[in-house]
Parts: sequence; C-alpha cells; structure tokens
Amino acid sequence: MVQPVDRTVGVFRRAAFQWLVATCAILATNKPLAAQTTVEISVDVARPGATISRNIFGQFAEHLGHGIYGGVWVGADSPIPNTRGIRNDVVAALKAIHVPNVRWPGGCFADEYHWRNGVGRERVQTLNPNWGGVIEPNSFGTHEFMDFLEQIGAEAYLSVNVGSGTPHEAADWMEYLTAAQPTTLAKERATNGHPAAYKVGYLGIGNESWDCGGNMTPEYYLSQLKIYSRFVRNYNPAQQGKDAMPKIAVGPGGGDARWTEWTEAVMKAYQHHQWSWDIQGLSLHSYTVVRWPPAYRSVGFGEPEYAQILKSTLQMDELITKHSTIMDTYDPKRNVALVVDEWGTWYTPLPGTNPGFLIQQNSLRDAMVAALNLNIFARHADRVRMANIAQMINVLQAMIVTDEAKMVLTPTYYVFKMYVPFQDATFVPVKFEAGAYSVGDVTLPRVDAIAARDRNGKLWLEVTNLDANDPVEIEATLPGINPKAASGETLTAPKVDSVNTFDAPNTVAPKPIAAKVQGGRVILTLAPKSVTVISVQ
Ligand code: AHR
Repeated sequence: MVQPVDRTVGVFRRAAFQWLVATCAILATNKPLAAQTTVEISVDVARPGATISRNIFGQFAEHLGHGIYGGVWVGADSPIPNTRGIRNDVVAALKAIHVPNVRWPGGCFADEYHWRNGVGRERVQTLNPNWGGVIEPNSFGTHEFMDFLEQIGAEAYLSVNVGSGTPHEAADWMEYLTAAQPTTLAKERATNGHPAAYKVGYLGIGNESWDCGGNMTPEYYLSQLKIYSRFVRNYNPAQQGKDAMPKIAVGPGGGDARWTEWTEAVMKAYQHHQWSWDIQGLSLHSYTVVRWPPAYRSVGFGEPEYAQILKSTLQMDELITKHSTIMDTYDPKRNVALVVDEWGTWYTPLPGTNPGFLIQQNSLRDAMVAALNLNIFARHADRVRMANIAQMINVLQAMIVTDEAKMVLTPTYYVFKMYVPFQDATFVPVKFEAGAYSVGDVTLPRVDAIAARDRNGKLWLEVTNLDANDPVEIEATLPGINPKAASGETLTAPKVDSVNTFDAPNTVAPKPIAAKVQGGRVILTLAPKSVTVISVQ
C-alpha cells in the first residue's frame, strides 16, 4: 500500500506559516466582557452589502478513500437503495442542503485522472497512488458524476488534469461533455447514454500545481494556464457570452512569501491578459490543521484542543484579506473571484483506518469551524464567490459518513443546512463587541455573528457562541425594522467533542429556538458552544 508521504511533505511546506494572532470578524473587537453576559448586536439593514453567493456552500468530492466509492457510488446491483448506482439516502440528504456545486474528481487525484478510463462499457482498472495505492475501478466516471449532480441539483466544477495530462486530452473531455453539434466525440457521448450536451458550470485548471499537481514554478504554471484557458473550450450553446463557464486558476496554499509571490504572478499576468486567454477565479487552499502532519484528534479531545482548533480556523480571515489585497492591486474591480476550493479540518486518521483514506470523526467543534468559516466567507462576499469544503462524504470534514448501508449526518452537515437561507442572500453588516473567551494561553472572540436578507426580503441572523462553558445573551437592535417575532434553530451538544454515530445519530442536531421581542429588540440566550440561525419577522 502506497502512503501519501510525498503529499504530506509538500503540505508541510505549504502550511509552514502560522499567523501569530487570531482575529475576529472585521466589525468585531475583542474587549473582555467582564462579568456581563449580554452582547449587543446592531444590525445595519440600511447598508446592504454584496450577495453571499450560494457557491460558497460548494462541496468537494475526490476519488479518495470512500469519498466516492461507498459514499456516493454503490453500483446499480447493490442491495443499498440506489438510482443508477448512486445512493438514494445520500442524494436525499444532499438535496436538503441545496448543494450548489461539486468539485471533482480531485484534488491530487485530478492531475493523474484520464477521463477516457471512466467512460464507455469497458472501464479501465487503474491505481490511486495518492490515496492508499488502491485500485481505481473507474466505474464512477463522467456520466455517473453528471447523473449524480442532476440527482442532487448541483452544478459541475471540473478540475482538469494539467500535471500529467495534455491540453488536447482536456479539450477533448470538454468537447465530449459540451458539444451540441454531432462531432465524433458528441456522438460517442450519445452512444454512452447522453445525447444532450452537458453543462459544465466551472473549470479548474489544475490542482495545487505548486505541489502534488506537478511542483511547478509560477512561471511554468502560467504558461500552462494560458494554453488550457485558450483551448479547453465549453461548446454548450447555453454557456456562451455572458453565461460562459468561469475558469479558475490554481492559487495559493498559504500566506507566506511563496504564496504571495504565486498570487502576484498570476494576478499580474491577468492584468495584462489578452483576448486569447482569461480567468474568472483564483483558488485558495487552506486547511485547519494547526501543524503538519495533522496532530489533532477528531474525537476524544478537551477544551484546550477545541480552542486551539478554533483559533487556527479564524486565521482564514487574515489569509483571505492578504490575498484579496494583492488581487485588488491587479484587479480593482474584483472581476476575479477568490475561490476557497479546499477548506476544512484535517485531523489524524481514526485509529485502525487506512491513513491514505483521511477518515476522521466530525464533532461539535467541526460545526463551530464550519460556521466561523462560512461567516468569514460571507464577510468577504465581494471577493470570495465560491468555496468547497473538503470533503463531501467520508473524507476529512465530511457532511455525511457512511458504512455499507448505514449513513449518518455530521454536525457540519447541520450547519450547512441551517445556513441554506444565506445562499444568494444580501449581506447586512452587524456591529458588536465580541468579548473574549480564554482557555490557557488561547484567547478567542466570545461571539461571532453575521446577518443577511434573503431574496424574499426576510432578515436572517447567525450567532455563534464560542465559549465552551457559559451562555451568552444576545440583544439585537435592528434600526428601521420593527420586529414582531424571531425564531430559528440552534445547534449544540453536551461536549465539545460530541459526535453523531450510526447508533446515536442525533447527539448533535439542531433544535428549535425562539427569541423574545421586547422594545424593538430581539433577545435570545445562546447555549455555550453553539451555532444559532434565526429569522426575524
Ligand atoms: O483534500 C485532500 C487533498 O488535500 C487534496 O487532494 C489536495 O488538493 C490537498 O492537498
């Protein structure tokens, strides 16, 4: 069995930088709250901000461990209920969180993926050297992926092979998928079951090309990027002109000089780009790991590890600010989106599992991590217009865990479900004094919050209480609004490392919560270590 040693070493370097100070929301400050337990939040409905793209709730599904095989694909002959080989329980769960897009087939896997192995009757058996060295049966290929997306109602975000493939191979794949005219490749697609041209929502040109994607210098990658951007075309008639498929370049994997130089190089080239190539996105990869190799356990930890992981995850804000600032120099109109297409927690593999499969538990702490990151993305909505949590099922910070016929929804899944109203909502600024919550030498903001108006004009407020021990009372003022009632859901659990299991699937599940409305204020008490979303009527 091949272990992903080379990958891990590359990731060490990538994540070697550590920010010194964790900061809270842009509009929040970290003043200690002394003995008081009330946090006043002022919701500024008169100053609407950017649209929070539904695409920031995107998923990432790589051919890695049981992310695809067992997690999504069981095959049409499986006793596990399925539709054309795709698990019905998983489809139903993903539909409920309105997954906007899925990035596939990798990850590192993408730069060794040859699409022809995964179409037609005879599938080629290959290996997956990045992830456990197991056999890759290729039974889940292009048609199965597109079928899966159709079943869950999501768009395709394809990562094409730049590392070990060719522009020719990638161009053929796109023609196979998107040509409406009867080319030989389009006819082959029809023979394989799909006469109509597929839509491909987004195209990623390479993955971590500075590491597992081929250890390229920025200059070498840029020459590849221009060629792929020019020749890997989307022919679907419905995706031309203003509806053209956005192309996403490989971006940074951290915040130190190596990464700022990479962002500088790509964005400088973009500033001077000619008609023959273009990009609409720059990716950013950042895992919550504290240090490499991953040393934190996903379950069986205490409050210090809870606080350390939250501190680490809050660095996402500074990382985005750093790269956005560089992007602003070369793209002041913010035409190029920052696409955080790999984010989430990365812990030590669960004991007894294949370390190449990246299997970890998902606890209440992960729910807090998810909420804090989604809030950071929302605050940067004018630049961060897409994000993909790693990874959708059975891998790293998953939404869903399966074992044969069993399935359980994770605490992270429930956060994504609670945040559905924020998809394509308009950001509304909030002001509050976050206070401070300290554990040993780690000090965190005590609360975090965002607000938004959905497309029907309804106001939504999310408030996270990071404090593992004490409740917080929230008093929200909404100048210009006369609230009549406010209610929603709250997610908490007995312990910071509480998890859902197949036997106890509802230990960390949302419960209804109602706020008091008094004197034009919305008042509610947040349980310790909780994520709460309410709407205001
Ligand atoms: O998500 C697991 C791996 O992490 C991906 O394959 C790679 O892109 C990243 O380093």
